[in-house]
Amino acid sequence: LSRLDPDTFVQKVVYEDLAESTQQLAHALVHAGAETGTVVIANQQTSGRGRLGRNWYSPANTGIWMSLILKPDMEIRKAPQLTLVAAVAAARAVRQVCGIDADIKWPNDLLLHNKKIAGILTEMQAEMDQMKSVVIGIGMNVNEISFPSGVHEVATSLKKETGKCFKRADIVVSILNEFQWLYDAYLTKGFPFIKPLWEARAVTIGKEITAKTHKDTIVGTAEGIDDEGVLLIKDKAGHHHRIYSADIEAAND
Ligand code: BTN
Repeated sequence: LSRLDPDTFVQKVVYEDLAESTQQLAHALVHAGAETGTVVIANQQTSGRGRLGRNWYSPANTGIWMSLILKPDMEIRKAPQLTLVAAVAAARAVRQVCGIDADIKWPNDLLLHNKKIAGILTEMQAEMDQMKSVVIGIGMNVNEISFPSGVHEVATSLKKETGKCFKRADIVVSILNEFQWLYDAYLTKGFPFIKPLWEARAVTIGKEITAKTHKDTIVGTAEGIDDEGVLLIKDKAGHHHRIYSADIEAAND
């Protein structure tokens, strides 16, 4: 990782050949006093975690399983914005290293031909309304040539989509360098700086979607995201909904 920009926020890289989950390891490191800018990377995860309690398929040697620890001075309601910053960083890294444009599905999925190549899981520790630390997990399918059934239907890899193998380290360095400047810009200029970069790659916007939140299901048109990164949906009756967290399906999926 010597090709990281010198002013990068990365302070320390913890590499494990085998981890249960880099998220879990990162949380343990936070607990043990890890500083902001600690990055945890594993070659394989035995219990990779996805959003909404799902498993994340994380075989050895083929993918990027990485968690970033940050300690921003920020209110907890802004945590979803960091997911969007990371999604833009990951998409830009894929463009830079692999020469292809991935779509972003709100909030955090990177898709190629409607199948998932990467996902982001943001988890935080908070005190009152302030974030104490946040762990941003990024999983990216790079050189996988097949997936088990159940995963296969929804996932793909950069190798499957382009026919080429990529060096995972190249992509890791690119994600971290991109995240670095985007995160800096976000901290100084706010989310409105990130919003157009995210929107330029977003495929959810303008579509008929079904959003399943923890309390109900909303069907309507995704109108966009607001200056906080919250998804705006207009339902058939013309009511507007602000969605902080949900599972999104396109109406024709
Ligand atoms: C999603 O559901 O889309 C989020 C997937 C996040 C997976 C990554 S892999 C590295 C980090 N460690 C985990 O256990 N999960 C995240």
